[in-house]
Amino acid sequence: MGGTGGLAAARAGEGTRGRRALGGAPLVAALAERAAASPLRLCVPGHGGGGYAPSALRRALERYGVWALDWTEVPGLDDLAWPHGPIRDAEARLAEAFGADGAAILVGGSTAGILAAVLALARGGRVALGATQHRSVYAALALAGARPVFLPEVADPETGYSLGLTEAAAAIVERERPALVVVAHPTYQGVAATPPALWEAARRTGAAVLADAAHGAHFGADPRLPPPALAAGADVAVLGLHKSLGALTQTAALVWRKGMPEERLRAMLRLIQSSSPSYLLLASADSASAAWAADGARRWARAVDHALEAAAWLGDEAWTPAVARDPTKLLWLRPAAGAGDLLAVLRAAGVEAEYADGRAVLFCLGPHVGRRGVERLRRAVRAVRSALPAARSARPVPAASPPAPPDMDMLAALAAPGERVPLAAAVGRVAGDFLVPYPPGIPRVLPGRRLSAEDVAAVAADLGLGREVQGVTPDATIKVLRPERGAGP
Ligand SMILES: Cc1ncc(COP(=O)(O)O)c(C=O)c1O
Repeated sequence: MGGTGGLAAARAGEGTRGRRALGGAPLVAALAERAAASPLRLCVPGHGGGGYAPSALRRALERYGVWALDWTEVPGLDDLAWPHGPIRDAEARLAEAFGADGAAILVGGSTAGILAAVLALARGGRVALGATQHRSVYAALALAGARPVFLPEVADPETGYSLGLTEAAAAIVERERPALVVVAHPTYQGVAATPPALWEAARRTGAAVLADAAHGAHFGADPRLPPPALAAGADVAVLGLHKSLGALTQTAALVWRKGMPEERLRAMLRLIQSSSPSYLLLASADSASAAWAADGARRWARAVDHALEAAAWLGDEAWTPAVARDPTKLLWLRPAAGAGDLLAVLRAAGVEAEYADGRAVLFCLGPHVGRRGVERLRRAVRAVRSALPAARSARPVPAASPPAPPDMDMLAALAAPGERVPLAAAVGRVAGDFLVPYPPGIPRVLPGRRLSAEDVAAVAADLGLGREVQGVTPDATIKVLRPERGAGP
């Protein structure tokens, strides 16, 4: 422990010196501190600090530097809204690399693609989805005025994590006939286990299927990874190029199959994306897709080997449910009273994890890790074991349950004037915002919901476990609508 504490003190000293040297720009200083610490990055972005940076962009950066390459749309460089030059060519190559009939590059993360796809395919309609969906999917429902139809999920009894949709989901799609089905491919914990009957039910009923593959752009590179979203049966998918393929943060792609309304998808993207896209981001998407096509199979085969090796030495402490799952998302089952303390010990031991929730720690073991990285992880795990006793109880984290349907339009509730009241006093009032345990960002309460005692108790339980809940202030107040505006019958 002495060593770990000394390291922490040394890093704190570095931080102070760094802040002074960087002229008081707090964000620059915070970044510089992380860069100076140079941890093994087992978290997004997937380039891991450059070890899996796509080679064409890396070479260009080495030759010209970041400032010379920072351009946006000027004559001759094409137009993201109406691609007709190098962006069109990059998108065509990207579509080919991912087995799609069309593709658009996203500079607003997978979020931009999810918003555009839901607006294009389900405006004012019904969208079937499991509860384990990122907040961007719910944001899309709010913007599109779409109503959720919840599909049941299987929760792992040991951890509470979703193991995918149940077989019953297909019958609900047949009965409810939604315009769109959204599936997580994979979930935040790497599960990609949509039952085949669901894809079939969607096809039979004419519902389009959107796969949220924010964490699944690398699927298909190796037979031990789940299949890519479009090959699995999706009609349209968002691929988080920055989360697993080495592109710069905020870079993603929307890909689709023939038959999808390309013009409508692009029209919605024009509403959402910046009119001054960063060409560094666009070029990183281009470069990452080229690298993927060239040597994705070789690099990911090694990454899977190393991840399986790490899971083997964790033994019973590795989460290995019997469902289709991405083995490079390594979950270390480590009950801890304070997830933050655990992450801090890992950080002091030189490893930045993706997240911890008191039940487990998630490490993303991409191609940048290698055998030396696995050794480094092993030493960090030992540091945690000796510094922090495991919590005695290994309670599952509360399983994601479908948030209750809102009682008024979500967008209207978000826009309506409100007031902040203590959470405990909010029963019977209409929520004016999302309440989202974070990470992983799956909403507990939707805006426009008239809060029941159960809704409030569920949020209080999340807070009681020490989880951060977005929408709840540190002094435990939430936004509710003023009674005359939102609380009418
Ligand atoms: C499952 C899932 N979907 C979508 C998103 C949104 O992706 P982005 O941050 O690239 O906008 C995230 C982000 O963490 C996510 O975890």
